[in-house]
Amino acid sequence: MALSGKKVFMTGGAGFIGTSLARRLVDENEIVILDNLHRDSLTGTELAEHPNLRLVQGDVLDLPLVRELTEPATHVVHMAAIAGVDKVLESRVRTMRVNLIGTYNVLEAAAEADGIERLVDFSTSEVFGTHAYKVEETHVTTQGSVGEARWTYAVSKLAGEYLAHSYFDEFGLPAVSVRPFNVYGPGQVGSGAIHHFTVRALAGEELVIHGDGAQIRAWCYVDDVVEALLAILERDEAVGQVFNVGNPRSVVTVFDLAARICRLAGSESEIVFRPLHYTDVEMRIPNVDKALKLLDWEPRIDLDEGLARTIGWYRERRPVQSLAPSA
Ligand SMILES: NC(=O)c1ccc[n+]([C@@H]2O[C@H](COP(=O)([O-])OP(=O)(O)OC[C@H]3O[C@@H](n4cnc5c(N)ncnc54)[C@H](O)[C@@H]3O)[C@@H](O)[C@H]2O)c1
Repeated sequence: MALSGKKVFMTGGAGFIGTSLARRLVDENEIVILDNLHRDSLTGTELAEHPNLRLVQGDVLDLPLVRELTEPATHVVHMAAIAGVDKVLESRVRTMRVNLIGTYNVLEAAAEADGIERLVDFSTSEVFGTHAYKVEETHVTTQGSVGEARWTYAVSKLAGEYLAHSYFDEFGLPAVSVRPFNVYGPGQVGSGAIHHFTVRALAGEELVIHGDGAQIRAWCYVDDVVEALLAILERDEAVGQVFNVGNPRSVVTVFDLAARICRLAGSESEIVFRPLHYTDVEMRIPNVDKALKLLDWEPRIDLDEGLARTIGWYRERRPVQSLAPSA
């Protein structure tokens, strides 16, 4: 049973995951996106021209606007955020404002609206800290020490989760939190190791690894994330829960990832190492049994297949001349 005839309000819907989700929903539902286009995976795509989609360029910190757009919605997907270590380190205050107050605004507006059937709040796997091996949703979260700038993002997202859960408990708001684990795929702009490596490999430029490249990640293809979101939007079992969304089978070191992308892209780019200037996550692998049990969801696209599709997408968009930002 697919979602249809609904009014879906997406904050941050012009981003990577938002556009992928909107594409799946737009034929059968009305989509309203609020996005300040700080990142933009929407402009210039066929999705932007779809008659069922409306983009409102604005800020999630604008509470009256958030209220106005939430009021008629049946489903709210809150994705607007400052994400990516570089962007977070650029301004911790902005990160806190957008991620924390933005989430508060969306929850307040949804609690006041009449017909909200589901609210999906985007958290992050960063809430598990530097060592996360097959972590389950009930495992302890950890944020490092207060002075370490990197954790600003995790703290802001974790506070958002607590907020969402509180609105569920106290006001009965049908909220769900998701913790994505390293999502990649076509349409990603801005940051992310796979974006960086692929763009550089195709352009014949150096692939830059910060640190020794031994950091371990589980990579989840964006279509799998979208399938999980569709189940969360539709299934009542999701309400009041938090879900890990990731692919525990697609685990590699960052060096292996760079080398694979070069191999799959047929690139002769060199892989170079630079000093790491922030605390990094050494290992991050999810346990996704809860999503299998409650949502009947599991990831299906394994790493090489997902990378091949992603490389194909970037290749079609060539010429990719500009230097991608660091991973
Ligand atoms: N991609 C991943 O691997 C990953 C992992 C964990 C969590 N997440 C979370 O998932 C969500 C979506 O991620 P994504 O990869 O699509 O990121 P993205 O950066 O592509 O999308 C976020 C969108 O939010 C918009 N935005 C930022 N500040 C805003 C503001 N003040 N007002 C309105 N819009 C604003 C941006 O313009 C962008 O379009 C985010 O909340 C992110 O923190 C993503």
